[in-house]
Amino acid sequence: MSFVSILYLLLCAQALPSLAASSSDISGVPIPTPSTAKTPTSSTGTGTVLSNTAISISVPTITVTGAPTAPASTIAALASFPPIGSIPRDFSPEGLDQLWDIAGPVEEPPFTTTPVPHTPIALPSPPPRQYPSFYSNAPKDILPSLKFPPGFLFGVATAAYQVEGAVKNEGKAPSMWDWANKQPGAIVDNTTGDITDLQYFLYKEDVARVAALGVNAHSFSISWARILPFGTKDSPVNPEGIDHYRDLIAYHRKSGVEPVVTLFHWDIPLALQAYYGGFASPNITDDFVHYAKTVFKAYNGSVHTWYTFNEPNVYCGQIASYPFNASIPDGLNSSTLPYHCAYNLLKAHAGAVKAFREMNIVGEIAFKNDDFVGMPWRTNTTEDAEAVERHVAFQIGIFSDPVYKTGDWPKIMKDILSPEWLPRFTEEEKAEIRGTADFFAIDCYRQQYISAPPNGLENCLSNISDPLWPKCNVVQTFDSNAGWNIGAFSSPGTSWLEDTSRFLRGYLKDVQARWPTHKMIASEFGFTQPFESQKTDLASIKEDTDRTNYLMSYLGEMLLSIHEDGIPLKGAFIWAMLDNAEWNSGLNTRFGVQYVNYTTLERSYKRSAFALAEFFEAHLQK
Ligand code: NOJ
Repeated sequence: MSFVSILYLLLCAQALPSLAASSSDISGVPIPTPSTAKTPTSSTGTGTVLSNTAISISVPTITVTGAPTAPASTIAALASFPPIGSIPRDFSPEGLDQLWDIAGPVEEPPFTTTPVPHTPIALPSPPPRQYPSFYSNAPKDILPSLKFPPGFLFGVATAAYQVEGAVKNEGKAPSMWDWANKQPGAIVDNTTGDITDLQYFLYKEDVARVAALGVNAHSFSISWARILPFGTKDSPVNPEGIDHYRDLIAYHRKSGVEPVVTLFHWDIPLALQAYYGGFASPNITDDFVHYAKTVFKAYNGSVHTWYTFNEPNVYCGQIASYPFNASIPDGLNSSTLPYHCAYNLLKAHAGAVKAFREMNIVGEIAFKNDDFVGMPWRTNTTEDAEAVERHVAFQIGIFSDPVYKTGDWPKIMKDILSPEWLPRFTEEEKAEIRGTADFFAIDCYRQQYISAPPNGLENCLSNISDPLWPKCNVVQTFDSNAGWNIGAFSSPGTSWLEDTSRFLRGYLKDVQARWPTHKMIASEFGFTQPFESQKTDLASIKEDTDRTNYLMSYLGEMLLSIHEDGIPLKGAFIWAMLDNAEWNSGLNTRFGVQYVNYTTLERSYKRSAFALAEFFEAHLQK
């Protein structure tokens, strides 16, 4: 086993908590069954961060010890970022160079032109059936009489940092992720997003390849630092960035693939972090609204479904964690920052939606929620039911209650967090935030059980030093009776993710009951095939049985949700269109339904891609 693999497994075994997952997800709970409750990192894993307490790292050689040794300050000190406010607002080429000096050197892409594929792309022959039909149905034979409603979006999803590469090409400035991936120990496998899939140049091939599968929508994000390199409202606009996404959107349309655009998928321009601390500062609101307006104006009419933010709760946790915690403004700390971020971000969202409506932009806008409501671990305790309420308030309600219901934070949050931790909205702000979404989108990767803290809810609530405070709930991944795990495991690199498809209908019902909507989009769901990145031969890499099982079960459950539960589901977006840079987990955590050879950049369809094509061919109404 290589050093990288050993490091990878060690890190996985460390059960790293993240702030996004919150203390509520950190267990350490005595348990009555064979496994230990794990410490999921975030609802969709992407808040996966190196815990400040779980490992000790020394540079330049990374060593990982099992013991929780290094204090937070030691690890955060390994990452270096200029003091907030110390970089001049210099919008000249030299100013751009200065930003790149902070981010560090990048790997150049092997080519910088966009090949035009011959279309339609011919699909290779589908894989042979794996199991006899008495054991598992062919995708087309799953619930054959049930169809998706007309206009249903069969989508795949990506995000700019994760797939584009070409990070320093055509006028792009660095984002914080271009800096983060060069900080010691920040990325589990030491890979970067410098090249990743090079979709910035290979987008035509990528769109044509999914169009050949019958995919009719692609949810991707725009890189703020490509449009406005310095991020601010007075930043020069980068015409190459504007033209790039114009071409990309047009090519989607031409290929019959609906472009679905997210404005912000975590890649904040580095300049904004350096100037004023990014989402820690109220200054972000005006700059985000200006960026949103620039993009709306550029692509109005050619994009009909928009998202302001991807998984804001994960993002606000992420920036309080290593390596981003090297840049926390004075007056805040890693505990308070996520809530201040949430406050500023909600105002930025509301401002962007207000502009969208005032500009009469064609189409609909929302943001992408994540996480799950959760199920009481022990059904006979009121404490676990209360714990579910706490979980849902802190994980989904934090953004969805203000936007879809009240304009304000959930009461559970206000009851425990003072205004210094959780800034309060004025009545005017509440009115501006309420109703700022046209539909409900959620990244619905998994469902989990929730229990009360081991020492009881009251003890936790009254003790600010309790590691579970203020959320005071615990995620459990096995049932409380028989000790069966909630679902089949994914790859060790995504220790937060199990195949919980059998709970999906209940999950969607919970969401619809709490934030009723006329239109729900499953904006991301997906799975990692166990140990896929350790395989070397393409034939076995493409055999992603567990991912296929997860996706087929999910889609079958979605059909039942629509037809039997009345859930107004209008689209399903599979994460991911292709393997990509999985944030802190790096290139070796592979979510794609297509394999990417990162040396040649060649793409190959996995079994799951064919299963999706067959499933949707049989269940979409033309
Ligand atoms: C959700 C995030 O939006 C995406 O960026 C990430 O890669 C997936 N979860 C998988 O963790």
